[in-house]
Amino acid sequence: MKFFLDSASIPEIRQALSWNLLDGVTTNPTLIAKEKAPFDSLVREICGLVPGHVSLETTSATAEGIVREGQHLSKLGQNVVVKVAISPEGLKAVKILEESGIKTNVTLVFSANQALVAAKAGASFVSPFIGRLDDVGHEGMLVVRQILEIFMRYSFRTQVIVASIRHPLHVLEAARIGAPIATMPLKVMEALFRHPLTDQGLKTFLEDWGRVKREVVDGASEESGRTQQPS
Ligand code: E4P
Repeated sequence: MKFFLDSASIPEIRQALSWNLLDGVTTNPTLIAKEKAPFDSLVREICGLVPGHVSLETTSATAEGIVREGQHLSKLGQNVVVKVAISPEGLKAVKILEESGIKTNVTLVFSANQALVAAKAGASFVSPFIGRLDDVGHEGMLVVRQILEIFMRYSFRTQVIVASIRHPLHVLEAARIGAPIATMPLKVMEALFRHPLTDQGLKTFLEDWGRVKREVVDGASEESGRTQQPS
Protein backbone atom coordinates (compact mmCIF):
# COMPACT_ATOMS: atom_id res chain seq x y z
CA MET A 1 0.00 0.00 0.00
CA LYS A 2 1.33 3.45 -0.90
CA PHE A 3 1.15 6.46 1.41
CA PHE A 4 0.77 9.88 -0.18
CA LEU A 5 1.00 13.13 1.76
CA ASP A 6 -1.92 15.50 1.18
CA SER A 7 0.05 18.73 1.44
CA ALA A 8 1.98 21.36 -0.51
CA SER A 9 4.20 22.27 2.45
CA ILE A 10 7.93 21.68 1.87
CA PRO A 11 8.71 21.20 5.62
CA GLU A 12 5.88 18.63 5.88
CA ILE A 13 7.10 16.79 2.78
CA ARG A 14 10.65 16.73 4.21
CA GLN A 15 9.29 15.38 7.51
CA ALA A 16 7.41 12.54 5.78
CA LEU A 17 10.51 11.76 3.69
CA SER A 18 12.60 11.54 6.87
CA TRP A 19 10.25 8.79 8.11
CA ASN A 20 10.70 6.86 4.83
CA LEU A 21 6.92 6.83 4.47
CA LEU A 22 6.44 9.05 1.45
CA ASP A 23 5.38 7.44 -1.83
CA GLY A 24 3.77 10.51 -3.39
CA VAL A 25 1.98 13.80 -2.82
CA THR A 26 -1.46 15.17 -3.58
CA THR A 27 -2.31 18.86 -3.59
CA ASN A 28 -5.40 20.93 -4.27
CA PRO A 29 -5.97 24.69 -4.71
CA THR A 30 -6.70 25.13 -0.98
CA LEU A 31 -3.45 23.43 0.06
CA ILE A 32 -1.43 25.40 -2.51
CA ALA A 33 -3.02 28.70 -1.38
CA LYS A 34 -1.88 28.02 2.22
CA GLU A 35 1.77 28.09 1.13
CA LYS A 36 1.77 31.69 -0.16
CA ALA A 37 4.64 30.89 -2.55
CA PRO A 38 5.02 31.37 -6.32
CA PHE A 39 3.21 28.38 -7.82
CA ASP A 40 5.66 27.16 -10.47
CA SER A 41 8.75 27.29 -8.25
CA LEU A 42 6.90 25.65 -5.33
CA VAL A 43 5.72 22.83 -7.59
CA ARG A 44 9.17 22.33 -9.13
CA GLU A 45 10.64 22.00 -5.63
CA ILE A 46 7.95 19.50 -4.55
CA CYS A 47 8.44 17.42 -7.71
CA GLY A 48 12.21 17.35 -7.15
CA LEU A 49 11.81 16.15 -3.55
CA VAL A 50 9.11 13.53 -3.94
CA PRO A 51 10.07 10.04 -5.16
CA GLY A 52 6.61 9.26 -6.62
CA HIS A 53 3.61 10.93 -8.21
CA VAL A 54 2.65 14.54 -7.41
CA SER A 55 -0.97 15.47 -8.17
CA LEU A 56 -1.58 19.09 -9.20
CA GLU A 57 -5.10 20.34 -9.73
CA THR A 58 -6.50 22.18 -12.75
CA THR A 59 -9.11 24.90 -12.27
CA SER A 60 -10.47 25.58 -15.78
CA ALA A 61 -14.12 24.88 -16.55
CA THR A 62 -13.72 23.78 -20.18
CA ALA A 63 -12.00 20.71 -21.61
CA GLU A 64 -9.81 22.95 -23.74
CA GLY A 65 -8.73 25.00 -20.72
CA ILE A 66 -8.08 21.91 -18.58
CA VAL A 67 -5.94 20.35 -21.33
CA ARG A 68 -3.93 23.56 -21.69
CA GLU A 69 -3.40 23.78 -17.93
CA GLY A 70 -2.55 20.07 -17.75
CA GLN A 71 0.07 20.42 -20.46
CA HIS A 72 1.69 23.29 -18.56
CA LEU A 73 1.59 21.43 -15.22
CA SER A 74 3.12 18.30 -16.75
CA LYS A 75 6.18 20.33 -17.74
CA LEU A 76 6.90 21.27 -14.11
CA GLY A 77 8.12 17.78 -13.20
CA GLN A 78 8.41 14.27 -14.62
CA ASN A 79 6.25 12.89 -11.81
CA VAL A 80 3.29 15.27 -12.27
CA VAL A 81 -0.23 13.84 -12.34
CA VAL A 82 -2.91 16.27 -13.51
CA LYS A 83 -5.88 16.44 -11.17
CA VAL A 84 -9.21 17.05 -12.84
CA ALA A 85 -12.52 17.57 -11.02
CA ILE A 86 -15.21 15.22 -12.29
CA SER A 87 -17.56 16.84 -14.84
CA PRO A 88 -18.41 16.19 -18.51
CA GLU A 89 -15.74 18.72 -19.59
CA GLY A 90 -13.28 17.23 -17.11
CA LEU A 91 -13.78 13.72 -18.50
CA LYS A 92 -13.26 14.95 -22.08
CA ALA A 93 -9.99 16.52 -20.93
CA VAL A 94 -8.94 13.31 -19.11
CA LYS A 95 -9.27 11.31 -22.33
CA ILE A 96 -7.21 13.84 -24.32
CA LEU A 97 -4.50 14.15 -21.64
CA GLU A 98 -4.19 10.39 -21.12
CA GLU A 99 -4.01 9.78 -24.89
CA SER A 100 -1.14 12.26 -25.05
CA GLY A 101 0.72 10.40 -22.29
CA ILE A 102 -0.15 12.72 -19.38
CA LYS A 103 -1.45 10.92 -16.27
CA THR A 104 -4.65 12.18 -14.66
CA ASN A 105 -6.29 11.91 -11.24
CA VAL A 106 -10.05 12.43 -11.27
CA THR A 107 -10.92 14.22 -8.06
CA LEU A 108 -13.94 15.27 -5.98
CA VAL A 109 -15.35 11.77 -6.42
CA PHE A 110 -18.23 10.98 -4.06
CA SER A 111 -19.88 7.96 -5.70
CA ALA A 112 -18.84 4.68 -7.29
CA ASN A 113 -20.55 5.67 -10.55
CA GLN A 114 -18.38 8.79 -10.78
CA ALA A 115 -15.31 6.56 -10.35
CA LEU A 116 -16.66 4.17 -13.01
CA VAL A 117 -17.03 6.90 -15.64
CA ALA A 118 -13.59 8.28 -14.74
CA ALA A 119 -12.09 4.82 -15.31
CA LYS A 120 -13.96 4.52 -18.63
CA ALA A 121 -12.43 7.88 -19.66
CA GLY A 122 -9.00 6.33 -19.03
CA ALA A 123 -7.98 8.11 -15.80
CA SER A 124 -4.84 6.74 -14.15
CA PHE A 125 -6.21 7.55 -10.65
CA VAL A 126 -9.52 8.39 -8.97
CA SER A 127 -9.80 10.10 -5.60
CA PRO A 128 -12.92 9.31 -3.54
CA PHE A 129 -13.20 11.84 -0.67
CA ILE A 130 -14.21 9.68 2.27
CA GLY A 131 -13.88 12.23 5.10
CA ARG A 132 -16.21 14.69 3.38
CA LEU A 133 -18.75 11.88 2.84
CA ASP A 134 -18.53 10.87 6.52
CA ASP A 135 -19.02 14.56 7.44
CA VAL A 136 -22.46 14.57 5.80
CA GLY A 137 -23.53 11.23 7.27
CA HIS A 138 -22.65 8.93 4.37
CA GLU A 139 -20.24 6.00 4.74
CA GLY A 140 -17.17 7.09 2.76
CA MET A 141 -15.45 3.72 2.98
CA LEU A 142 -18.48 1.99 1.46
CA VAL A 143 -17.93 4.00 -1.72
CA VAL A 144 -14.27 2.91 -1.76
CA ARG A 145 -15.32 -0.73 -1.35
CA GLN A 146 -17.75 -0.43 -4.27
CA ILE A 147 -15.13 1.21 -6.49
CA LEU A 148 -12.53 -1.49 -5.73
CA GLU A 149 -15.10 -4.20 -6.49
CA ILE A 150 -16.06 -2.62 -9.84
CA PHE A 151 -12.45 -1.98 -10.90
CA MET A 152 -11.51 -5.59 -10.08
CA ARG A 153 -14.56 -7.01 -11.88
CA TYR A 154 -13.73 -5.15 -15.11
CA SER A 155 -9.92 -5.18 -14.73
CA PHE A 156 -9.70 -1.37 -14.94
CA ARG A 157 -6.11 -0.23 -14.50
CA THR A 158 -7.26 2.99 -12.76
CA GLN A 159 -5.88 3.14 -9.22
CA VAL A 160 -7.89 4.30 -6.23
CA ILE A 161 -6.41 7.03 -4.03
CA VAL A 162 -8.43 7.07 -0.80
CA ALA A 163 -8.60 10.82 -0.10
CA SER A 164 -9.96 13.25 2.47
CA ILE A 165 -8.61 11.01 5.21
CA ARG A 166 -9.25 12.42 8.68
CA HIS A 167 -7.78 9.90 11.14
CA PRO A 168 -5.74 6.65 11.42
CA LEU A 169 -8.87 4.47 11.41
CA HIS A 170 -9.53 5.60 7.83
CA VAL A 171 -6.06 4.35 6.86
CA LEU A 172 -6.60 1.07 8.72
CA GLU A 173 -9.92 0.45 6.95
CA ALA A 174 -8.46 1.41 3.56
CA ALA A 175 -5.60 -1.06 4.13
CA ARG A 176 -7.98 -3.84 5.22
CA ILE A 177 -10.01 -3.60 2.04
CA GLY A 178 -6.93 -3.51 -0.17
CA ALA A 179 -6.97 0.10 -1.37
CA PRO A 180 -3.68 0.64 -3.24
CA ILE A 181 -3.08 4.25 -2.10
CA ALA A 182 -4.15 6.48 0.80
CA THR A 183 -3.41 10.21 0.84
CA MET A 184 -3.40 11.84 4.26
CA PRO A 185 -2.35 14.91 6.24
CA LEU A 186 0.99 14.77 8.07
CA LYS A 187 -0.64 14.41 11.49
CA VAL A 188 -2.47 11.25 10.36
CA MET A 189 0.75 9.81 8.88
CA GLU A 190 2.52 10.45 12.20
CA ALA A 191 -0.34 8.87 14.15
CA LEU A 192 0.25 5.62 12.23
CA PHE A 193 3.42 4.91 14.19
CA ARG A 194 2.85 6.82 17.42
CA HIS A 195 0.93 5.29 20.31
CA PRO A 196 0.52 6.69 23.86
CA LEU A 197 1.15 3.23 25.35
CA THR A 198 4.45 3.00 23.41
CA ASP A 199 5.52 6.41 24.79
CA GLN A 200 4.49 5.45 28.32
CA GLY A 201 6.14 2.00 28.07
CA LEU A 202 9.37 3.48 26.77
CA LYS A 203 9.44 6.10 29.54
CA THR A 204 9.04 3.39 32.22
CA PHE A 205 11.69 1.14 30.62
CA LEU A 206 14.20 4.01 30.49
CA GLU A 207 13.50 5.09 34.10
CA ASP A 208 13.87 1.48 35.35
CA TRP A 209 17.02 0.98 33.32
CA GLY A 210 18.48 4.23 34.67
CA ARG A 211 17.84 3.06 38.27
CA VAL A 212 19.32 -0.43 37.64
CA LYS A 213 22.33 1.12 35.92
CA ARG A 214 22.95 3.47 38.87
CA GLU A 215 22.46 0.76 41.52
CA VAL A 216 23.91 -2.34 39.84
CA VAL A 217 26.16 -1.47 36.90
CA ASP A 218 27.68 1.80 38.19
CA GLY A 219 27.72 0.40 41.78
CA ALA A 220 29.59 -2.74 40.61
CA SER A 221 32.26 -0.77 38.77
CA GLU A 222 32.80 1.48 41.82
CA GLU A 223 33.16 -1.72 43.93
CA SER A 224 35.69 -3.28 41.54
CA GLY A 225 37.59 0.04 41.43
CA ARG A 226 37.95 -0.14 45.23
CA THR A 227 39.07 -3.82 45.27
CA GLN A 228 41.68 -3.17 42.57
CA GLN A 229 43.33 -0.34 44.53
CA PRO A 230 46.79 -1.34 45.88
CA SER A 231 46.72 -1.82 49.67
C1 E4P B 1 -7.11 14.78 -2.17
O1 E4P B 1 -6.57 14.71 -3.23
C2 E4P B 1 -7.59 16.04 -1.57
O2 E4P B 1 -6.58 17.01 -1.68
C3 E4P B 1 -7.87 15.91 -0.09
O3 E4P B 1 -7.73 14.59 0.36
C4 E4P B 1 -9.07 16.64 0.38
O4 E4P B 1 -9.16 16.44 1.78
P1 E4P B 1 -10.06 17.35 2.74
O5 E4P B 1 -11.46 16.86 2.64
O6 E4P B 1 -9.48 17.11 4.08
O7 E4P B 1 -9.90 18.77 2.26
